Amino acid sequence: WLIFGILSLAVFLSIVGFTAFAHGNESVLCLPAGGMDTIDPEKVSEQAPFDKPGVRQIDEDRYEVVVVAQAFGYDPPDIKVPVGKEIIFTLTSTDVVHSFTIDNTKVNMMAVPGRITHKSYIFDKPGKYLVLCNEYCGSGHHYMSTEIEVY
Ligand code: CUA
Repeated sequence: WLIFGILSLAVFLSIVGFTAFAHGNESVLCLPAGGMDTIDPEKVSEQAPFDKPGVRQIDEDRYEVVVVAQAFGYDPPDIKVPVGKEIIFTLTSTDVVHSFTIDNTKVNMMAVPGRITHKSYIFDKPGKYLVLCNEYCGSGHHYMSTEIEVY
């Protein structure tokens, strides 16, 4: 049985290895194909737009919200955006994989170190929206929440 176990493990690992090799090792993480920019995770705070996390107005109808996810929380800690405008979330992580999931919306973004993720969303109702991390990311995981105030 021990030999059987070892053989199964070897087969499993070679399948994982082959899949990673065949598709580039990102397939293991189930990342969406394309549409992602890269960033050095150790220099996030030095690089635009992550040197100034927060909300900025792009034009009359569009706002960008730049968010850095890291263990224990999000930067900026609070976000205020207007209702009925296009909000473009721009996200990265400095340490491990987190998510930026806005409760009761279709926004469920992955924050991956080394990657920049974008998601556009229009809030149709004012109010407070809870943001949670739904990727288990270590001891800080259950502290990772914030609120978006839509006015
Ligand atoms: Cu960050 Cu869970």
